[in-house]
Amino acid sequence: MSGRPGIRPTSHEARGKSFSDICARLATATTERTAFTAGYLGTVDADQSPQVRTVILRSFESDQFVVSFATARRSHKFFELSANPAAAFTLHDDMVQLRLTGHVAEDCAAATRNRIWQGFAEHTRAQFASFEDFAWLNLTVAAFDWLDLTASERWRGQRAEPGWQIRPVAL
Ligand SMILES: Cc1cc2nc3c(=O)[nH]c(=O)nc-3n(C[C@H](O)[C@H](O)[C@H](O)COP(=O)(O)O)c2cc1C
Repeated sequence: MSGRPGIRPTSHEARGKSFSDICARLATATTERTAFTAGYLGTVDADQSPQVRTVILRSFESDQFVVSFATARRSHKFFELSANPAAAFTLHDDMVQLRLTGHVAEDCAAATRNRIWQGFAEHTRAQFASFEDFAWLNLTVAAFDWLDLTASERWRGQRAEPGWQIRPVAL
């Protein structure tokens, strides 16, 4: 027991289960329409004010714990993230909340951009002024906070190379 306030001891099994539950939820949200398919992306603008808006979770890569979004280069969020890559992404499903924080980087690789663009439905492509306007953004998650009010559980995870340090915290 660490002795820090709000931290309860727990088993490795419970930690592992919680982490795999989170990964499963994120992965499913990218292939099916679930409550986690859209979330709220927070950025910091030039005046240091927080800005939050809905974005679709397009991809989740569990090995590196990276979530990806598509956005327009002409959008405010693109300019904000170009100046300050710090970002938060919050997902919500009934009594469950997942908060992710980390840094966003644009993936400019032609192969990736072409593959993602080809996979878009026509109505999605129509949201961009052109292919050049389309940006593929990767949020590399540095920390997460998982809150499940039905189970009275809250978990916090922090990247601790190699792997993650995951611990329960008080609600
Ligand atoms: C359901 C829903 C899904 C959205 N998904 C995206 C998205 O995946 N990418 C995006 O850039 N904007 C998306 N938007 C629009 C943003 O919420 C936002 O209004 C727009 O991107 C401009 O934001 P900004 O000027 O702060 O960048 C979505 C809006 C809604 C309501």
